[in-house]
Amino acid sequence: MALTVAFIGTGKKREKGSLMGYGMAYTHADAYSELDDVELVAAADVVEENVQAFAEQYDIEATFSDYQKMLAEIEPQAVSICTWPHLHEPMVINCARAGVELIYCEKPMADTIGGARRMLEICDEEGVALNFNHQRRYGAPFRLAKEMLDDGVIGDLLRMEWGGPNIYDYGSHNFDMAQYFNDEAWPEWVMAQIDYHTEDFWFGAHNENATTAAIAYENGVYGLVATGDAEGLVGCHNRLVGTMGMIEIGATYEEAGVLRYRTWDSGKWEDVDTAGEGLHGNVYINRAIADAVESWRNGERSMMDGHNAIKGTEAIFACWESSRIRERVEIPMEAEDNPLQEMVEAGQLQPAPAEEAESF
Ligand SMILES: NC(=O)c1ccc[n+]([C@@H]2O[C@H](COP(=O)([O-])OP(=O)(O)OC[C@H]3O[C@@H](n4cnc5c(N)ncnc54)[C@H](O)[C@@H]3O)[C@@H](O)[C@H]2O)c1
Repeated sequence: MALTVAFIGTGKKREKGSLMGYGMAYTHADAYSELDDVELVAAADVVEENVQAFAEQYDIEATFSDYQKMLAEIEPQAVSICTWPHLHEPMVINCARAGVELIYCEKPMADTIGGARRMLEICDEEGVALNFNHQRRYGAPFRLAKEMLDDGVIGDLLRMEWGGPNIYDYGSHNFDMAQYFNDEAWPEWVMAQIDYHTEDFWFGAHNENATTAAIAYENGVYGLVATGDAEGLVGCHNRLVGTMGMIEIGATYEEAGVLRYRTWDSGKWEDVDTAGEGLHGNVYINRAIADAVESWRNGERSMMDGHNAIKGTEAIFACWESSRIRERVEIPMEAEDNPLQEMVEAGQLQPAPAEEAESF
């Protein structure tokens, strides 16, 4: 029997996505449409024209403005949640309670660490497979880097470094990649400082302007993070430093290919062929959704399972907490909130209003 899939938060198809709307539901629907034995049965969005345009494009008969009504009437087996981060927690929990068996939710997990923990706990209680769209795990540069690491090309992993615009919305991917490279080892503690002088909302959530952070993992590996204004400190999307050499993905030096490595012995950079795949690509989402569905069918958990995602998520919120309390923070931390948002609300951070949302 075909797997029945419904969507919450269809968004609007745009030529170019922005931090105010990317229409991720379309990339999810494209991915399901490539699979055998999958039926797109329903969609919900509070904006009528969004849900109608989506339903028309994918030939979906049932549309709703109230997603809870959709869950009750349609009883889909799988749901893709493509709303902004502050809605992920209640939507995941309501899907799990309504009997949905497979949830594919956009990252970041939630807007508070307590929320992320609750989502996971309730999905476990209900036996739901909860996945987060950390699709880079399915991209050639990342997979090849992991293969080289596992093959011992750079010896034993000592340190991972990563950069990007921020640690939360974009950073959710990078913290997740660190889990992937480091065999899903738990982060043990973080020590971080952030700067937030200009408001930066990504999909409705505050994101800091710069972070520097040190992370210690339970297996002795360290993480070094530099984001936003401090990104140049790392100068690389992901760097893996081992006992015998290093691997770089997306180094910002002009001559660097998307994936390269060098060993201490040779001392020379070697580019690795990624068959044209780079840091981004919707094809990664196709593979990720195919894997989530197949894993669920086989009674297994995909790599995007919430139990993997929670580890990077704990580290992200712990970085903000470290900045709030000016101390090293042990994971899991006691705080359950969103320290960045709380610091803004308490007036401890007073970012100036931003002029306009950035497009990408
Ligand atoms: N994986 C990636 O690479 C990637 C890239 C971009 C965005 N994202 C993430 O995707 C998520 C969604 O972002 P987007 O840009 O696709 O959003 P979007 O703004 O394009 O779409 C969200 C939709 O949710 C609808 N909505 C709001 N409240 C609702 C409710 N109560 N019930 C039903 N629908 C509701 C809105 O009307 C809107 O149409 C974010 O968490 C973002 O971080 C991920």
